[in-house]
Amino acid sequence: MATPSSPSTPPNIVLTGFMGVGKSAVGREVAARLGRPFVDLDDLIEQNAGMSINDIFASKGEAHFRALERLTLRELAAQQGMVIATGGGALVDPANREMMARTSLVICLTASVSAIEARIGDAADRPLLTGPNKQQRIMVLMQQRAAAYAEIPYWIDTTDKTIAQVADAVIALAESGLGGILRLPVSLPDGSGYDILLGAGLLTEAPALLQERGLGDQVVVVSDEHVAPHWSAPLLEALARAGMRATLVTLPAGEAHKNLASIARLYDEFLAAGLDRSGLVMALGGGVVGDMAGFAAATYLRGVRFVQVPTSLLAMVDASVGGKTGVDLPQGKNLVGAFKQPELVMIDPDLLATLPPEEFRNGLAEVVKHGIIEDERLFAQLEGDGPASMESMIARALRVKIGVVERDPFEQGERAHLNLGHTFAHAIERVSDYAIPHGQAVGLGLIAAARLAAARKLCAPDVPQRIHAVVARLGLPTTLSGSGYDPAAIVAAMTTDKKRQGGKVRFVLPRAIGDVGVYDDVSEAEALAAVESLLGP
Ligand SMILES: NC(=O)c1ccc[n+]([C@@H]2O[C@H](COP(=O)([O-])OP(=O)(O)OC[C@H]3O[C@@H](n4cnc5c(N)ncnc54)[C@H](O)[C@@H]3O)[C@@H](O)[C@H]2O)c1
Ligand SMILES: [Zn+2]
Repeated sequence: MATPSSPSTPPNIVLTGFMGVGKSAVGREVAARLGRPFVDLDDLIEQNAGMSINDIFASKGEAHFRALERLTLRELAAQQGMVIATGGGALVDPANREMMARTSLVICLTASVSAIEARIGDAADRPLLTGPNKQQRIMVLMQQRAAAYAEIPYWIDTTDKTIAQVADAVIALAESGLGGILRLPVSLPDGSGYDILLGAGLLTEAPALLQERGLGDQVVVVSDEHVAPHWSAPLLEALARAGMRATLVTLPAGEAHKNLASIARLYDEFLAAGLDRSGLVMALGGGVVGDMAGFAAATYLRGVRFVQVPTSLLAMVDASVGGKTGVDLPQGKNLVGAFKQPELVMIDPDLLATLPPEEFRNGLAEVVKHGIIEDERLFAQLEGDGPASMESMIARALRVKIGVVERDPFEQGERAHLNLGHTFAHAIERVSDYAIPHGQAVGLGLIAAARLAAARKLCAPDVPQRIHAVVARLGLPTTLSGSGYDPAAIVAAMTTDKKRQGGKVRFVLPRAIGDVGVYDDVSEAEALAAVESLLGP
């Protein structure tokens, strides 16, 4: 996601996306308004080849076309200051994408299937769309490209927008110094959805983002004693400047206060502020604040709208996605709660500046977890020089969680993958009487799960070694040696884990970095060996 920002050499603006999103028309408009040259990649390929794209496909095949495309893109990437529209498939190739990202602001234009169908009209001149049932072809092709487009940092939706309006948005992004807002859309099972927005400085842009979405004019901001002193004033001042009525509720910080007494306090404060059904609850805090504010919003007046501004790394990459909210009871964690989807999640990585380093490392354990579940490249970045930026690390980790919860919104299958390392972690936390923080326990749990998997020959022997090395590198403990905990007690604590189903403890185990599976046939002896490996010298 590296983007040059020297003012003397404006980077290229590259518009990509599916056919029919208006890349060329928008590109021409943007170029004209900024006084920059415009290049349509497909036109350039046709010029260079001396034949139409249809003829290239027909006479030489798609592979030949893609080779020409790559060569032409390389020429363009070497230049600066241009506005470039690419064919919809051009940036599906990761090498092409990375080449362009080095010198260009790459923006993906999107649109709904029906908008695309209406815009492309007769598909006779679209080599990939010939044949019956055009809508189905569009959907299949979109699906094939979804993963590649998801890698592109900036998205602009063009459905219901004019060319001029989309051009406005492109120019705004270009002029924002390239530190624009990354948008990660989340789809919900009922067909609706919400946005996760990610960008430095987003906190003070919150009022405009709320107003754009018609999210009311009254807000109760829920925060805690650690976060509010740093971040509530800029937020409340920005809300007041925008003419919104904003009230702050500051709860005591920490898991010990994630209880029904705090929820009762929130109801009192909501009533005192006169919050009605048109109002909004905004969580400004870590996972504890998010879980409580969300649960209060789900239940107050049978539900008011809810927005998350996560402030801890754990909340940014994990707790703020998926709609789970709730509180602890004296008998156990998260025993009361509700599914409550937010209207919007705004992630401002600048807020991490005040997060204690230990809490940051705790959040990193979940980032590692997401890499092992599904993003080998994220994991490799953590092993190597690190992700290009905080934003890119958060975005990659988030995409894993978004993908899993979208595919399994009601926790019936795949969502179990998110418990990787957690069967061990919860037991370790419990046996330590919560002296070992969750993130540290997760780091240990990831190592134990990988060792168990390697012992079963589910994964190669280097998988536990690589996980151990990354956990150590991030400053998280990799051993319980010297702690004096009884391995048998840790294994016993696992069997009372609430995740157990049908009397069997289920383990999520890595098969490779980026691929995990759920196993319910792990014997106590195997689990014990894995725990003992953590306690050994
Ligand atoms: N809903 C979900 O899907 C989900 C998923 C994972 C975890 N959780 C829940 O999240 C909670 C853990 O979240 P957490 O680790 O964020 O805990 P937390 O909210 O307690 O935050 C950790 C500590 O950091 C402080 N803090 C947070 N952001 C700060 C900032 N920017 N500056 C200074 N201090 C800051 C907090 O006040 C707290 O002391 C647990 O209760 C867990 O059950 C929920
Ligand atoms: Zn966790």
